[in-house]
Amino acid sequence: MSTLKGLEDVVAAQTAISDIDGKLGKLWYAGYSIDDLAANSSFEEVLFLVHHIQLPLQAELEELTEQMVNEREAADFVTGLMPTLAEQTSPMSMLRTSISAASAYDPDGWDQSPEANYRKAIRVVSLMPTFIAYYDRHRRELPIVEPNPKLPHGANFLYMLSGEEPEQRVAEIFDTVFILYADHTMNASTFTARVVASTLADMHSAMTAAIAALKGPLHGGANEQAFRMLEEIGDPSRAEEYVTRLFERKQLVMGFGHRVYRQVDDPRATILRGLAKELGETAGDMRWYEISEAVERVVREQKGLRPNVDFYAASVLHYLGLATDLFTPMFAAARAAGWTAHIREQYADNRIIRPDSEYIGPRDMTWVPVEERQEEAS
Ligand SMILES: CC(C)(COP(=O)(O)OP(=O)(O)OC[C@H]1O[C@@H](n2cnc3c(N)ncnc32)[C@H](O)[C@@H]1OP(=O)(O)O)[C@@H](O)C(=O)NCCC(=O)NCCS
Repeated sequence: MSTLKGLEDVVAAQTAISDIDGKLGKLWYAGYSIDDLAANSSFEEVLFLVHHIQLPLQAELEELTEQMVNEREAADFVTGLMPTLAEQTSPMSMLRTSISAASAYDPDGWDQSPEANYRKAIRVVSLMPTFIAYYDRHRRELPIVEPNPKLPHGANFLYMLSGEEPEQRVAEIFDTVFILYADHTMNASTFTARVVASTLADMHSAMTAAIAALKGPLHGGANEQAFRMLEEIGDPSRAEEYVTRLFERKQLVMGFGHRVYRQVDDPRATILRGLAKELGETAGDMRWYEISEAVERVVREQKGLRPNVDFYAASVLHYLGLATDLFTPMFAAARAAGWTAHIREQYADNRIIRPDSEYIGPRDMTWVPVEERQEEAS
């Protein structure tokens, strides 16, 4: 029996939702390339795509959009928790707790039928921006901004955060980030969601677990850490010294490296690099883009590592006005599309996920009463 640390290359499930070619640097959702989707689609359309494995017809898209708008308002039960959560927890802990709490008032309750699970999925995806915005407005001691039914998903999120309708291009770019983050095959949080779903636990439990897995800095937490690094560097001229020191100390450069894309660029990073540049030019503030470019150059020269989705997403989200600690919650709100689709896919053809382990502990030990035990010689 061989042990694959980190389950590298282990195929844990069959999926029709997304596919990666790590050698070519390609990503597809249900057969559509991420470049096409980022350039032409909307998050609502992508949500439909990952759930139905086909693009929606006009009427289907309208129906889903209306459904999402109708599900944006959080119940009093969760909004009642928000002042405490805003005071006591990080945004990701708030999100994990709020999604867990949302199961208490979901109109479909513990109904596990495919129809109920689809409705729960759309509800959870629609609610996540509301939770994040409520939390952020609470902690800034600003009045809550109720969802605006006229705005699409991403634009409404920005509106609830700032109280102002975003400019069209800003809303488009934010929507593109939503699309880029929507799914990514068997990443750690999606695997977590599928493991929980495979026990036939409910949608909210699987989503809560997925958010918990995304929180860590080796996964979704990397976008926040990447921006904190850019802030510490402060100027492109300091990038080389900073990165060299990190490598000398054997520390990670957040937003670099990937299990699947090793020799080629992550296609999402390529798109986000362009968007960061555009936003920097529009803002007349190229600092974050230029520091990012300098870091990318040095990391590539010294270690041959390439940026992943989180590296340029950090400057894009900053340019779009998000607080740094909301970057990972935003990622979660987008990935909710993929998680919910994977959970439903797991339910549809389920076998409990139960891998093996290789035992490396002692064997054939003799039990002795506690009073006779001796300290082991070290
Ligand atoms: C994404 C990540 C978890 C993938 O992990 P992995 O597939 O197990 O990667 P590996 O450990 O096999 O990487 C190969 C080598 O590159 C190094 N490496 C990988 N990413 C690195 C990084 N960001 N900074 C410095 N070194 C890195 C590893 O230490 C390893 O070195 P070694 O061969 O000397 O031990 C890892 O690249 C990482 O921690 N990146 C930073 C966090 C991040 O950006 N996460 C977001 C992912 S979308």
